[in-house]
Amino acid sequence: MDYNVINLKTVMNPDPKLGGLTIAEGERDIPFAIKRIYCIHHTEAEYHRGFHAHKKNWQLLFCPCGEIEISLNDGKNVETVVLDDPSKGIILSPGLWRELVWKVDNAVLCVAASEYYDPNEYIRDYNEFLTYVHN
Ligand code: TYD
Repeated sequence: MDYNVINLKTVMNPDPKLGGLTIAEGERDIPFAIKRIYCIHHTEAEYHRGFHAHKKNWQLLFCPCGEIEISLNDGKNVETVVLDDPSKGIILSPGLWRELVWKVDNAVLCVAASEYYDPNEYIRDYNEFLTYVHN
């Protein structure tokens, strides 16, 4: 399936009370130039988001705080990746249907995207997605 789990450079402060710092650079650590960033926050455990695919947009997803399960579907297979560590990122190519499950309250999903927001490049209907990937 067309995704990659990557290790994001993470620098922990020598003082554990000061936490860590996680870094991703466009066109270096991730295979595209970043046009947009967003994050999803204040979501409660066991709630699901996503339910869409993109026609053009590449994305880096990572979860700096909490745990989020990412279920990916290319129209043939379904694979699941758990983001449960700030240094774990996933690069998603276009054409993957995704469903995101919040495993704990207030987990934060950070996203870097290759495209500006364009609702027309989303596929939000599952049957339309299957037609899109099988043609
Ligand atoms: P949506 O993609 O529906 O979130 P999810 O699939 O996780 O439930 O986005 C929620 C709302 O935010 C929707 O009204 C579109 C808007 N939005 C933007 O305006 N710009 C953006 O870059 C994104 C990602 C969403």
